[in-house]
Formats: sequence, C-alpha cells, structure tokens
Amino acid sequence: MILAPSVLSMHYDDFMNELKQLNENVEWIHFDVMDGHFVPNLTFGPDILKAFRRNTDLFMDVHLMVDDPDFFSDVFAKAGADSIVFHYEAYRDIDKCIALIDKIHGMYLKAGISIKPGTAIEEIIPLLDKIDIFLLMSVEPGFGGQKFMEEAYDRIRFLKKYKEEHGLDYIIEIDGGVNDQNAHDIISSGADALVAGSFVFNGNIKENAARLRRCE
Ligand code: DX5
Ligand code: ZN
Repeated sequence: MILAPSVLSMHYDDFMNELKQLNENVEWIHFDVMDGHFVPNLTFGPDILKAFRRNTDLFMDVHLMVDDPDFFSDVFAKAGADSIVFHYEAYRDIDKCIALIDKIHGMYLKAGISIKPGTAIEEIIPLLDKIDIFLLMSVEPGFGGQKFMEEAYDRIRFLKKYKEEHGLDYIIEIDGGVNDQNAHDIISSGADALVAGSFVFNGNIKENAARLRRCE
C-alpha cells in the first residue's frame, strides 16, 4: 500500500521534524494545490514544493485543484513534482484532458486525473488507458478534515474491475476522510494508495502511519 499524507494538515512551525517523520514512514507526499477559484480555498505555491524537494526524496504527488491546470502543471513540474494530477471538471473536455496528460508525460512525470464525488466515472472512461493515477475524491475538494463519503466504495470497486478487465495499471488513490476505521474497507475495495491528512498529522505521524498500515 502507498501512504500519501496530505501536507495540507502539516504543522508548518515544525516543518523539518514532521518531514523527517514522513521520510522515515511513508512512500509519497500528497501536495494539495488550490487556487481560490476551482475550490474556495488557497494553498501552496511552487516555492513550498521546492522546500520539500530540497529535504525529501519521497515521491511528490501534486493534486491540482485549479481552474487552469495547464499553467499550474508547468509551474509545479519545474518545482520538483513527480506526478501531476488534475481535475476533469476543470475542462469537462476529453480532448483537452488528453492534451494535458500528453504534456505531463512529455515532462517525464506521472499523470493523473481526479474527479469530484458528483462526477460519473463513465464520463472519463476514454482517459483510463492514458493515466498513471486515478485520484478518486471521497469528499468535496477544498478542505481537510471532512467525512469520508461511503458512495466511494462502489466507485473504487468499479475502477478496480475496469482496470483488471482491460489490463490497465493505473494506481487507484483515494483522497478525503481516510482514517483507521475505513482504511480496511477502502483497501479491500481496490485502493492502491491512501491520501490521509488530518489522520496522519493529528498526533504521532509514525504511529498513525503504522495504524493505517495495520488496516491492510
Ligand atoms: C481535499 C484534499 C485532500 C485533503 C485530505 O480537498 O484534496 O487531500 O487534504 O485531508 P483529510 O485526510 O483530512 O480528509
Ligand atoms: Zn488531495
């Protein structure tokens, strides 16, 4: 299982200590970029990602919650991202999504697509053989600390079944409301990667990461 803590919930007055804990205990860092338009919240610019990059070799998983993912993909690729995941809802246009996926691959990064809870997976079937990561939102994007939406289980099972039936290998990553109460069901439904923000950073990072792993 890939653990990808969302640094939206990190305590930035203790950055180096918390980053050390992440370096020793998890596989990925999930970096939530919000522009104040696509979602009603504003987070990090590229200099923050560069600060992470200088102090970690972990895979930096960048989740763009922005109106203009094309612009932001360049910015965060240059800053040191390993993956760029953008929202289908920013375009609602398959050809535009494919063009951006191709551009991200052209920068030698992993490319991913994300959908909000209200968007049908069926709309983006033509993208599934082109992506490396499917980031399924299990809360409305915008804020950490929300409750996991149970509807996500059927969607995870669908993505897993589709992947197997079509011989694809995208990573199924679940984002929002993940904790030690639901992680087992999320993983057994087919998730490969868990984003967890408030659960990991609320208390001891090492213990919380271990608690999630025990759910496997
Ligand atoms: C929400 C973000 C998530 C969020 C997860 O818009 O994409 O990554 O920070 O936080 P928790 O785990 O607290 O729901
Ligand atoms: Zn996220």
